[in-house]
Amino acid sequence: MRKTIEKSKGIKGEIRVAADKSISHRAAIFSALAEGESIIRNFLRANDTLSTLNCMRRLGVDVEECKNEVIIKGRGFYGLREPGTVLDCGNSGTTMRLLTGLCASYPFFTVLTGDDSLNKRPMKRVIAPLALMGAEIWGRNGGNYPPLAVKGKRLKGIKYDIPVASAQVKSALILAGLNAEGKTILTEPAKSRDHTERMLKAMGADLAVDGLTITLTPGQRLSPQEFIVPADISSAAFFLVAASIVPNSELVIREVGINPTRAGIIEVLQKMGADIKILNQKTAGGEIIADILVKSSELKGIEIEGEIIPRLIDEIPVIAVAMAAAEGTSAVRGAEELRVKETDRIKAIALELGRMGVNITELEDGFIIEGDKEKLKGTCVESHDDHRIAMSLAVAGLIADGETCIDDAEVVAISFPEFWYILDDIVI
Ligand code: S3P
Repeated sequence: MRKTIEKSKGIKGEIRVAADKSISHRAAIFSALAEGESIIRNFLRANDTLSTLNCMRRLGVDVEECKNEVIIKGRGFYGLREPGTVLDCGNSGTTMRLLTGLCASYPFFTVLTGDDSLNKRPMKRVIAPLALMGAEIWGRNGGNYPPLAVKGKRLKGIKYDIPVASAQVKSALILAGLNAEGKTILTEPAKSRDHTERMLKAMGADLAVDGLTITLTPGQRLSPQEFIVPADISSAAFFLVAASIVPNSELVIREVGINPTRAGIIEVLQKMGADIKILNQKTAGGEIIADILVKSSELKGIEIEGEIIPRLIDEIPVIAVAMAAAEGTSAVRGAEELRVKETDRIKAIALELGRMGVNITELEDGFIIEGDKEKLKGTCVESHDDHRIAMSLAVAGLIADGETCIDDAEVVAISFPEFWYILDDIVI
């Protein structure tokens, strides 16, 4: 599908964006390990999270879907079954990495595969520490690329300094550690999203967090939960930027999860001069949720690097669009992780924004942008089969002169199937 975007005269309205992808994956996986039935309300029905549900079914878990609610009959720690066929993780890195950690600790054989993009993403980062725990895992390219073959067994807890700030690696090791012999002690180089810690603690796991170190003592049963998944700040991000940079805009985004390990984009946009207000803040299910009011503003350039990067890693492509619309020079550094996402996002965003007339210079670990709103012009751009690149380019199209056309626009279904409908609805 090719989508065409025209320059917008304003963005107005009140919206709900897609449910949180990270929380939906985790709710599905953790519920399967609980003793009893969990209900997940507002589960994200998108390709990535549906991949997780299908994998859980293959592991013998009873999963019932009714609109946006999912009911999972937990099987406890010993109830998972050897899958009769390969686990297809589709495009989802979270599914593959978390389930590799989980399956490594069960006494059966599992093969995990993905689509062309996922089968080129690095898995050594989970396989190496899992091997230290005693796991046996094989993959292509010297054990780095999927498909992965996992011969599971009882593992030993480890003390491990995780070299990259990655919630997927952290969560894979925590899942492996839940069923292991002895404590698992993990230290991150910077804080990554902490939904796993919050959710497992609420379910009864013995998990202590002290700064960047997590100590997991196995042996506690997990109790079933009623999860209510907030809206995904990573999906809200496209509209936060759109309503900031399109003149004559005023938008309310309802019930967004603003967990501090995810909310880096709000801090950055506010520092750039965005008019963003947090309203009706409350806590539900261990997560902070709020409505966000955003109005148009004149943004200024900013430089970002360091500990904030993992707290806005998925939002960097759309932050690049905000930087392109801002006055002055902006830079992102220390974000080399972007090169191993669904596509090489540094290369993709530099290439496509460059095509639209943005003055952007690619760095090994980020980019530099000379912002100038007037420079953006509509043209045909490519999504690189990456949902977040497609949605970011759509936002750029809203301030570009003329028409912007985006190829393979259906890729948004990975995380945000209703994206185009919502956008069409609020754009004047
Ligand atoms: C995710 C963690 C991040 C993020 C991804 C979702 C998660 O990846 O980019 O979209 O749900 O744990 P890394 O852990 O590889 O940084």
